[in-house]
Amino acid sequence: MVNRRLPRWEELAPLIGRPDPALSRAQARLERCASIGDLRARARRRVPRAVFDYVDGAAGTETSLLRSRQAFARVQFRPRVLRDVSDVDPSVTMLGERSALPFAFAPTGFTRMMHHVGEPAVARAAGDAGIPYALSTLGTTSLEDLAAEAPDTRRWFQLYVWRDRMAAEALVRRAEASGYDTLILTVDTAVGGIRLRDVRNGLTIPPQLRAATIAQMALYPRWWANVLTTPPLEFASLTSTGGTVGDLLTEVFDPSIGPEHISWLRGIWPGRLILKGIQSVEDARLAADLGADAIVLSNHGGRQIDMGNVPLELLPGVVEAVGDRVEVYIDGGITSGADIVAACAFGARGVLVGRAYLYGLMAGGADGVRRTVAILEKEIRTTMQLLGVRSIAELDPGYVTLR
Ligand SMILES: Cc1cc2nc3c(=O)[nH]c(=O)nc-3n(C[C@H](O)[C@H](O)[C@H](O)COP(=O)(O)O)c2cc1C
Repeated sequence: MVNRRLPRWEELAPLIGRPDPALSRAQARLERCASIGDLRARARRRVPRAVFDYVDGAAGTETSLLRSRQAFARVQFRPRVLRDVSDVDPSVTMLGERSALPFAFAPTGFTRMMHHVGEPAVARAAGDAGIPYALSTLGTTSLEDLAAEAPDTRRWFQLYVWRDRMAAEALVRRAEASGYDTLILTVDTAVGGIRLRDVRNGLTIPPQLRAATIAQMALYPRWWANVLTTPPLEFASLTSTGGTVGDLLTEVFDPSIGPEHISWLRGIWPGRLILKGIQSVEDARLAADLGADAIVLSNHGGRQIDMGNVPLELLPGVVEAVGDRVEVYIDGGITSGADIVAACAFGARGVLVGRAYLYGLMAGGADGVRRTVAILEKEIRTTMQLLGVRSIAELDPGYVTLR
């Protein structure tokens, strides 16, 4: 028999949760996003469908992206216990400089479409977190403006090689003059991937006002108000032809680039060079032979070739082949800190994340990007502690298998 009584107010009062007065309502909503998946769900409600799909989607059947995610789902950790993990250090050295966390923000085009605060907000969030930010050739903020807006952030510049070689050279010189220390040459874009969601949604760059778009305005008035009352949404470094992004890649960039172009680039760029989009051991060797400082095993987040290689599966073989000559990074489908720790255990120096921060950006602008970093950092630290390692350098393939 249980004796029941009415609770007294003094007992109830401390149990009633109150919102943190330091947080706005929007920030409080972001705080309740516990995972990158939660940020994605929030992002989906905040921006027009064509914008969300541009970020979320991939090429063709989206199998490349799906398989990258499935590979992370196959990761099985082998934790060690009875180790002092009261303090863990998730920092790594990336191309000669410390990054506070083992990831960098990947280059993503047209970022101001996701949220009007765009690249500067993302770059500042990266700087606050102590990680590098890569500006895309297809960015909506110029190299110089970004440098002025985020002077303390370690900045990398991602280059596509244009048919017009002089235009590419001019960009490289501007990157050097405005303090970017690393050039990422993306090599998986001989032509644009076939991104079906963009075709179906009629997503052109810049977005055009059609009947369906105008109907969407009613659903996302704040997004549209921001687009229409801030500087025009356009590429900072090239003039758009009005097609999809896939069309644009095909039209503007050079499908004939070969090893000689890497040597040419080496001649005009004094900083560090990363080749992004390597998808085989042979090409990893080629990149190392050509003098790249680092490579990113990447299928462009599944946005280029469909049914491509999975970077995580490729990683051990590539590290074995060239790990002593170049730093090896991977990207694609990374949605948690555990994914990042697993990649490092398989031998990656670190990873790039793309969509994860774009979901944060769409969900809540600058605060949303900061939330992405906070979620990933917490997950990285927790995974390290539960795995029994105090530093990223301690990780090795003994901690992980693919089921
Ligand atoms: C919306 C979007 C735009 C992108 N734009 C570029 C780009 O301009 N240049 C580039 O090299 N990669 C681009 N990427 C690929 C990313 O750099 C990166 O390889 C990919 O996003 C990693 O996969 P994840 O998004 O699943 O993390 C883009 C990716 C997304 C999602």
